[in-house]
Amino acid sequence: MAHQDTMEKLVALCLNRGFIYPSSEIYGGINGFWDYGPLGCEMRNNIKAAWWQRMVRVRNDMVGLDSSIIANPETWVASGHVENFHDPMVDCRRCKRRFRADQVDSRCSDAEDGAHDLTEPKQFNLMLKTRIGASEDSAIEAYLRAETCQSIFLDFKRVMGSSRQKPPFGIAQIGKAFRNEITPRNFIFRSREFEQMEMEFFCPPAEASDWFQYFREYRFQSHLDLGIDPARLRWHEHGPDELAHYCREAYDIEFEFPFGWQEFEGIHDRFDFDLKAHSAHSGKDQTYTNPETKERYTPFVVETSVGVDRTMLVLLCSAFTEDEVGGEKRTLLKLSPSIAPIKVAVFPLSKKIAEPAERIAAELQRRFNTAFDVSGNIGRRYRRQDEIGTPFCVTYDFDSETDQKVTVRERDSTEQERISIDSLSGYLSQKILGY
Ligand code: GAP
Repeated sequence: MAHQDTMEKLVALCLNRGFIYPSSEIYGGINGFWDYGPLGCEMRNNIKAAWWQRMVRVRNDMVGLDSSIIANPETWVASGHVENFHDPMVDCRRCKRRFRADQVDSRCSDAEDGAHDLTEPKQFNLMLKTRIGASEDSAIEAYLRAETCQSIFLDFKRVMGSSRQKPPFGIAQIGKAFRNEITPRNFIFRSREFEQMEMEFFCPPAEASDWFQYFREYRFQSHLDLGIDPARLRWHEHGPDELAHYCREAYDIEFEFPFGWQEFEGIHDRFDFDLKAHSAHSGKDQTYTNPETKERYTPFVVETSVGVDRTMLVLLCSAFTEDEVGGEKRTLLKLSPSIAPIKVAVFPLSKKIAEPAERIAAELQRRFNTAFDVSGNIGRRYRRQDEIGTPFCVTYDFDSETDQKVTVRERDSTEQERISIDSLSGYLSQKILGY
């Protein structure tokens, strides 16, 4: 119950403070689709930037790609998604509703003496379809991509050649993916339109196990570095009946959401499944020949795959805190400064001294996303920023007029420090960016 309560409070906060809204709300919304408001899109951009920095920018063995959402439909035949990307569905003859076969017991209450009255399971493909072309008759049917990685496999040779990379090296991509999920649920946890951050690492077959182990640790550590509570993260190894058709080994990093432990990120050993499948289906060779040893092989692939939306929910759940300051209850998001949508808020103590405070805000805005707030008492202004995760608030008071110093207040500890205006930007830079 307490957990449900947390989720309800978090959803309300996201709605009221401009993080996440239901899509097309004035028409009643549409199940499994969400819009990200002003703070939500800032936070998503920060999540993507942090991932890109970690996966591409700081590494010499990784390059980026931004491919189209729609690919030649043969892609999805070769990848196995047309044949295998299914959920088995059953209809309840009593309530006339449709369920995923493995979820009937938990979701359908129309059982008599513990027995359901169900139709035989039917396979339901999760890929969303669209039609391309001017006329209905000649239009071809295509798919909105169900995972972003397939184009990485299709472009593997182009990227390798044009970026002068050779195995072992990786290609990273961030982009939208679509799945006709039967039961989109738990806010943005499982939606029908979502964004993935995926990396495919191409290596000699003999090195695949070591790289798999390496990227498991690399990804886990990057979640810890974003400030996620280690007690709420754990590993789950896929058993033989859970493995996707393209995997020979897979681990999920799970997070303890208010609704239970669930998948956060997948680390997959895709061996040479995809490159071989596309090579066979397209007739285009996807092997690599080592110029020194002349050894020719199809690279093995280690994949790391995580949702932007899923990461956002993890970070919000992990950051959501209620405590008491000076006998007053407050809600705060303990987001890491790199992820917080607004990094610093500047307050003049009184409207009479708004102008110099505004000048400070304008100066800080050049480096950090900065808010300026003149309305309400200082306590209320602090609460508003705490609730959206702003790590620092700067108050310009009447003493500032003479000593040229401001009060910097830290969100979690609420500790305050007097800092000279001249050194403010450098001080905040050290705290927010680490340099
Ligand atoms: N390319 C491999 C792949 O797509 P996956 O386990 O199906 O693997 C990877 O998805 C990640 O994408 C998940 O761990 C999750 O973070 C995110 N994800 C998958 N389906 C999602 C959905 N319906 N809504 C939001 N995020 C989703």
